[in-house]
Amino acid sequence: MRINSSASASWGESLPALRADTPGCETVIHFNNAGCGLLATPVLTTMVEHLQLEAAIGGYEASAARADEVRGFYTEIAALIGCGPGNVAFSGSATHAYANALSSITFERGDVILTTRNDFISNQIAFLSLRKRFGIELVHAPDLPEGGVDVEAMALLMKEHRPRLVAATHIPTNSGLVQPIAEIGRHCRELGLLYLVDACQSVGQYPIDVEEIGCDFLTGTCRKFLRGPRGSGFLYVSDRVLAAGYEPLFIDMHGAKWTAPGTYTPSRTASRFEEWEFPYATVLGCAAAVRYAREVGIDAISERTPQLAGRLRDGLDAIPGVRALDRGEQLGALVTIAVDDWQPEAFKTALDARGINSALSFRNFAQFDFGDKNVNWCLRLSPHYYNTDDEVEQVIAAIAELRAVG
Ligand SMILES: Cc1ncc(COP(=O)(O)O)c(C=O)c1O
Repeated sequence: MRINSSASASWGESLPALRADTPGCETVIHFNNAGCGLLATPVLTTMVEHLQLEAAIGGYEASAARADEVRGFYTEIAALIGCGPGNVAFSGSATHAYANALSSITFERGDVILTTRNDFISNQIAFLSLRKRFGIELVHAPDLPEGGVDVEAMALLMKEHRPRLVAATHIPTNSGLVQPIAEIGRHCRELGLLYLVDACQSVGQYPIDVEEIGCDFLTGTCRKFLRGPRGSGFLYVSDRVLAAGYEPLFIDMHGAKWTAPGTYTPSRTASRFEEWEFPYATVLGCAAAVRYAREVGIDAISERTPQLAGRLRDGLDAIPGVRALDRGEQLGALVTIAVDDWQPEAFKTALDARGINSALSFRNFAQFDFGDKNVNWCLRLSPHYYNTDDEVEQVIAAIAELRAVG
């Protein structure tokens, strides 16, 4: 199945098999991979079989019987992002993983969190909540005129504020922008600053190497470009942070050992960021999804997917009354457009009726970005490697037609 990265001919040969492995390809044009990718059959089968085993022999007994495969979750994620299995924690969502990482930091009044204007909505709300409760200060690095964070300006802010935490989202939910997270990480390492990266939209779309990024924490979800099940995510925790004793505020009996009535000892690995109860079918599905993505080849995916999105973006931008909103030096597989003379829900419903899956983003998802662009909503289309050029053309044609009658 592995695709030889630079050869588009390899994709031509492999696409029919990849699409045959993806039941949803028969029913929809799925351009909502930034919401949730389509499951591949091996992922679905793995999960269904585990649920059947739970029904047949009992839930605890089933997870014990599949202990080796459960460990596969950690080895797969570790191989995907370049760390050891002990640096990986499973989480029910990326947001939960992110909150757990934040909760391990002993913020004090006046501490600074330095972030970007394009960090994910829930991260921004969490920072505001920390400000409300602990009196931290929140600083947003400015953007470059062409879009994307100004890394040099951010580095100066690091020197000026010595932030307790630097936080950056690799690809925001609200545009195709790809932020230079490794460059930011280099500055963090030089200054010894704690660095948290949200890689939800990039994992499965681009290669992620936590050593190259130089982050202390990294969060991801399995359901988007990794094509795993819903209700799953992960947290990477660096050896540095584990050795320094960072632990989540609400550590439980899985993350720690209750050693005496008045003491507990956190586990030595990132499992201290997990909870005791696991959705095992989901964990196994995630392992299968990551294995599948690695078999297809992340390098090859990272060439094809943004290229498909680029063709889509150019085609849509050429339609009168449609404006592509994505800005920045590097753009990924999220394509966002403003459409004149349409209301958001009506426009999306019209696409739904044509079997085209898309998503809407609103001003409150991206207060800075949508403010700068002066839009209140956009339509987001996010193809993946299993989509075809023909589907790109069909979506462009459908939007041109709707726009003309709108
Ligand atoms: C950039 C980004 N970060 C974080 C998340 C949150 O992920 P989850 O829904 O798994 O908590 C999303 C989800 O859309 C996202 O786009």
